[in-house]
Amino acid sequence: MTILEIIQRSTDYLQRHGVPAPRLQAECLLAHVLKQKRLQLYLQFDRPVPEPALEQMRQLLRRRAAREPLQHLVGTAAFADFELLTTPQALIPRPETELLLEHAGRWLAGRLASAAGPLPQILDWGTGTGCLAIGLARQFPAAQVTAVDVSAEALALARLNADKNGVSGRIEFVESDGLAALPADRRFDLVVANPPYIPSAEIEQLEPEVREHDPRLALDGGPDGLRFYRRLAVECPPFLAAGGTLWLELGHGQAAAVCQIFESHGWRVMALEQDYQRIERVLGVERHTVPPPVQR
Ligand SMILES: C[S@@+](CC[C@H](N)C(=O)[O-])C[C@H]1O[C@@H](n2cnc3c(N)ncnc32)[C@H](O)[C@@H]1O
Repeated sequence: MTILEIIQRSTDYLQRHGVPAPRLQAECLLAHVLKQKRLQLYLQFDRPVPEPALEQMRQLLRRRAAREPLQHLVGTAAFADFELLTTPQALIPRPETELLLEHAGRWLAGRLASAAGPLPQILDWGTGTGCLAIGLARQFPAAQVTAVDVSAEALALARLNADKNGVSGRIEFVESDGLAALPADRRFDLVVANPPYIPSAEIEQLEPEVREHDPRLALDGGPDGLRFYRRLAVECPPFLAAGGTLWLELGHGQAAAVCQIFESHGWRVMALEQDYQRIERVLGVERHTVPPPVQR
């Protein structure tokens, strides 16, 4: 069979199994099997594919038809301008989160340009694959980054990803429920968080790729999806340096409720940014009161 025939048959097969964007998925899987870039396939449509590669493709197609995510089948995901290893132990990074990286990074760049100071200290709450911690460490070579997660498995993957991207020397990984394991005297100029924000009862309605293959710990935001925003509003202030800010990813339709939570805990909304579907997706907040001491 030729490359074009395999793409056509695979597309039909994935379509029959209800997989979204079946042609793109078929091309990505075949490119992975043949160790080529996807667009290179277009230059070789008539090339015959040897049997071992065909057999590997059949196996991957069966798994994709059973709704295993493409990123788990190929083992990697693109994020911003770098690549991450992905496993079922951590959330597959999403394009929305690239927007959080972009806005938080822009804020820190502006701050560094306007005031000389000590090395910027950055905290990534709930690091997962490490996408935000790594993105910020790459963008700010002078910064020290701390990445926390309650999941030891996610942290192990994040460490591998930091290594893969050459920034493991500048990220400290800490297993912690929220900020509980951090020393009380730590202060951060920038905190980023993409917390679990799906209301518990809605998880069963998500696509199978998400509800069966992303860790529940990374999805479940409690009964109304807002559990971790409430925690961050209360737990973050003692760890903010003077003038420090917190940047958050928001779930669809959560902006008003999350702003209200932060404003009622002495925060001020600095920025509320939309994604490409015009959904309010990224919130930047700062304190307008003196941070209270750490209470344990
Ligand atoms: C939505 S995922 C985000 C992962 C990654 N930052 C990203 O944007 O792709 C939320 C992350 O928060 C972590 N998490 C959940 N509860 C936590 C807690 N109590 N303390 C710290 N991290 C937590 C999960 O393990 C998961 O890695």
